[in-house]
Amino acid sequence: MRYLPNYLAAMGNTPLIALPNIAQGYRPLILAKAEQLNPGGSVKDRIGPALIEQGEREGALRPGGTIIEPTSGNTGVGLAIAAATKGYKLIVVMPDKVAEEKRALLRAYGAEVIMCPTSVVRESAESYYSVADRLVREIPNAYQPNQYFNPANADAHYHTTGPEIWEATSGRITHFVCSVGTGGTVTGAGRFLKEQNPDIVIVGADPEGSIYSEPENMHPYLVEGIGQDFWPGAFDPKLIDQWVTVSDRDSYGIARRIAREEGMLVGSSTGTAMHAALVVAADLPEDAVVVVVFCDTGRNYVSKLYNEDWLRENGVLDEATAATAESGSRAG
Ligand SMILES: Cc1ncc(COP(=O)(O)O)c(C=O)c1O
Repeated sequence: MRYLPNYLAAMGNTPLIALPNIAQGYRPLILAKAEQLNPGGSVKDRIGPALIEQGEREGALRPGGTIIEPTSGNTGVGLAIAAATKGYKLIVVMPDKVAEEKRALLRAYGAEVIMCPTSVVRESAESYYSVADRLVREIPNAYQPNQYFNPANADAHYHTTGPEIWEATSGRITHFVCSVGTGGTVTGAGRFLKEQNPDIVIVGADPEGSIYSEPENMHPYLVEGIGQDFWPGAFDPKLIDQWVTVSDRDSYGIARRIAREEGMLVGSSTGTAMHAALVVAADLPEDAVVVVVFCDTGRNYVSKLYNEDWLRENGVLDEATAATAESGSRAG
């Protein structure tokens, strides 16, 4: 018989997948690290058990305890899967720009979800970071994994994501492209890859308005789960060789093309990374091997990224990827 001991064991070991249609016309081999195939549908599955086990090792998390984390959703799912299998209660605190599907999803796993305004600064008592901190103080036997500062975040990718990419490319990867939220993925996987071959170029994909690539031009943006308005301790920015700043419109446009042309339903931050990968690949030779992290499934964004009315209302519809005019005339 061949079976896994529990659901956590199904995390990781995601495939590298070529993109014959999207990558057409580009010289390098461009490969997607398909993290949307994790059990919870995102790259953040990997850190759920790692963060909880860190708390258990430190003695901060004891049986019957409550895990409280500010997250835009995907870490919440990774934590929810791990909390369910290990018997902990989970409270997720999130900004109100997060898609309704993601909130409902966490409730489905049995988590309590608390919404906070997106438009306030981190220091505000109303911000999702501050509310999470307050709850940890108020609730007995509560543990905040704190993915933004916990080294277990990047370590999970150092021990899994990085080695998987190195092995699957037989060490031939030349460029690693990753969108940056907490920075855990790019820091852990990027550090591992640089240790194997310091010539590997690490490319950070950043939404317009985030602090990372344009600190003088910070403003709200629509893409979810990535970019930041502060520098998380989990992120080592020295690892980044090149930043590519990507507009909401370009992130959404390419994510929608990935769904239609490759059959892979992905989220907006995957669009950000893919756009950056194509920008970089445009100047590379045939022997380059570009690996781009596909961060999460598009199922969480059916009402936004995959809803043309929503895209139009928000001024981010790339008309080249619009289908409503065509399907409307067919229906008529
Ligand atoms: C949708 C999505 N993409 C990408 C990321 C970035 O991953 P990291 O936090 O490891 O930088 C996140 C992080 O939460 C995310 O939710």
